[in-house]
Amino acid sequence: MSSPSLSVTVLVIALVLVIGTVAPQAEAARAFFVFGDSLVDSGNNNYLATTARADSPPYGIDYPTHRPTGRFSNGLNIPDLISEQLGSESTLPYLSPQLNGQKLLVGANFASAGIGILNDTGIQFARIIRIYQQMEFFQEYQQRVSAIIGPAGAQQLVNQALVLITLGGNDFVNNYFLMPYSARRLQYSLPDFSRYIISEYRNILKTLYELGARRVLVTGSGPLGCVPSQLVSGGGNGKCAEGPQQAAAIYNPELVQMLKSLNQELGSDVFIAANAMDMHNDFINNPQAFGFVTSKRACCGQGPYNGLGVCNPRSNLCPNRSLYAFWDPFHPTERANRYIVQTIVTGSTKYMNPMNLSTIMAMDSNT
Ligand SMILES: *[C@@H]1O[C@H](CO)[C@@H](O)[C@H](O)[C@H]1NC(C)=O
Ligand SMILES: *[C@@H]1O[C@H](CO)[C@@H](O)[C@H](O)[C@H]1NC(C)=O
Ligand SMILES: *[C@@H]1O[C@H](CO)[C@@H](O)[C@H](O)[C@H]1NC(C)=O
Repeated sequence: MSSPSLSVTVLVIALVLVIGTVAPQAEAARAFFVFGDSLVDSGNNNYLATTARADSPPYGIDYPTHRPTGRFSNGLNIPDLISEQLGSESTLPYLSPQLNGQKLLVGANFASAGIGILNDTGIQFARIIRIYQQMEFFQEYQQRVSAIIGPAGAQQLVNQALVLITLGGNDFVNNYFLMPYSARRLQYSLPDFSRYIISEYRNILKTLYELGARRVLVTGSGPLGCVPSQLVSGGGNGKCAEGPQQAAAIYNPELVQMLKSLNQELGSDVFIAANAMDMHNDFINNPQAFGFVTSKRACCGQGPYNGLGVCNPRSNLCPNRSLYAFWDPFHPTERANRYIVQTIVTGSTKYMNPMNLSTIMAMDSNT
């Protein structure tokens, strides 16, 4: 007896196969580039003599290989999940020896944990790839791609690419607020420091544009005082640290304004502001609504809130990472990263300004 449900099943499977093979290939044509700090570093620091690294267990415990990769996450990080949305494989760290030949056409990740907008941010981590050097590597990358597909092809690949840049948090947490009397704190009031780094950030973004970037997601800072590491110094009882919170409140609106003015100057919506502050606040203020048991205590760490020092093989480790918003004292879990990326893709203008990634992808595929 021929079963109608069987033939429907076969049809559905056939459709899934067709869509599954066609759609990702169409999107895989779009390259993806990543710049910034540990929130988006996929392993560059593994190749450097620095203390800012995530290359020992339990980092990567939920990664497909269950091994550390240099990502500051239990599993996938934000760039991985954006690549997933683009239908392509994850971009390799620029320093990876595997980044060669056809792999170069997927894009590259230049991010390096510990860096900031300023060159003096993260000096305590010794050798890391500062942002101006990430840009130099981007130029070098373009020369390597030119050698494969020609200069015109390389330029088109870069012009049509999606770019993500995540920068700025370390300029506060690992520079301005690092010590009670940091050099930058003696030099600048908080509003003046914010204005200063925004003006430097503007130059960085203009350089990125000059190097060919035409669609750039720029994430603001999260609520800097509410990460587990800062709760330790926030005076106990789970209150967010005041200074870093104030910094984020001043810096983020200025960043949005700067991006708006830059787009006006360029006559195009090149720079898209991603409101990381509100995305984080959603699960920090109401962790239960997101299936988290806590947004204060890190899964991996030691001391109050597991917020002291760094996550290492001897740290406390929670059994189920999906129940925690924060993986280590500074970085979200894969589960929280998934919420952030979902919001980047489909969020309203409260989160994505002037538009979300699904709108960008629809617009760019029509041109
Ligand atoms: C950082 O250093 C590079 C190379 O020395 C320099 O070109 C750049 O202007 C510096 N950036 C800032 C903000 O001082
Ligand atoms: C971890 O928590 C998630 C979310 O509640 C749940 O779906 C999953 O089954 C849990 N995993 C384990 C191993 O308990
Ligand atoms: C964001 O994406 C959704 C589709 O997922 C769309 O309906 C909505 O209008 C978009 N919002 C903006 C502001 O682009």
